[in-house]
Amino acid sequence: MKQDELKQAVARAAIDYVPQGIIGVGTGSTANFFIDELATIRGRFEAAVASSEATAQRLKNHGIQVLDLNSVGELEIYVDGADEITRHMHMIKGGGGALTREKIVAACSKKFICLADDSKLVEVLGKFPLPVEVIPMAQSHVARELVKLGGQPVLRTGFTTDNGNVILDVHNLAITNPVELEKQINQIVGVVTNGLFAQRPADILLLGTADGVKTMQ
Ligand code: A5P
Repeated sequence: MKQDELKQAVARAAIDYVPQGIIGVGTGSTANFFIDELATIRGRFEAAVASSEATAQRLKNHGIQVLDLNSVGELEIYVDGADEITRHMHMIKGGGGALTREKIVAACSKKFICLADDSKLVEVLGKFPLPVEVIPMAQSHVARELVKLGGQPVLRTGFTTDNGNVILDVHNLAITNPVELEKQINQIVGVVTNGLFAQRPADILLLGTADGVKTMQ
């Protein structure tokens, strides 16, 4: 099966978890498949909260109502992809640059449902460069601090986040303690947030494999 078919399969499987109320929706190619599936069950749920401008636009294009996070209470579920995920449900996210809003919506949701094809499942996080969203004037300072942590930060050129910031992609980190590293990086002045989702891991992983969708929790 092709990677896109696996993504589509997990997106379809996630529909079983959609509650009647408001759904948190992630960003990226897998999340896009999920949005397209949501469009087929419009009317069975109330509305969505988007984790990026791109997701908000895609939802609206499908006629799905998009609400401001501040106007709603706790969400039942947040559905999103990941760049890497471990069996402990720790993730690297932010390949698409939406990590901060993704982390915010995930924090406001009772359950995080991660959709991934099996190429994303890893033993140790870090082969995928860790995205760090940074206030532009702090870029050099944060880069120096990330080097002290053993990483090689590379500025994502020509890219600005929905929040008006820059992304440093950190290469060569062996992330053996994701919970600790997530905290450490977030303590660097000028960091908005980093793409480790370890303090708030996924609750359910729908993993697309050649043998079908596997559910891990
Ligand atoms: C967006 O910022 C990311 O966190 C994505 O959720 C993640 O990169 C997975 O994207 P794909 O589904 O496109 O692989």
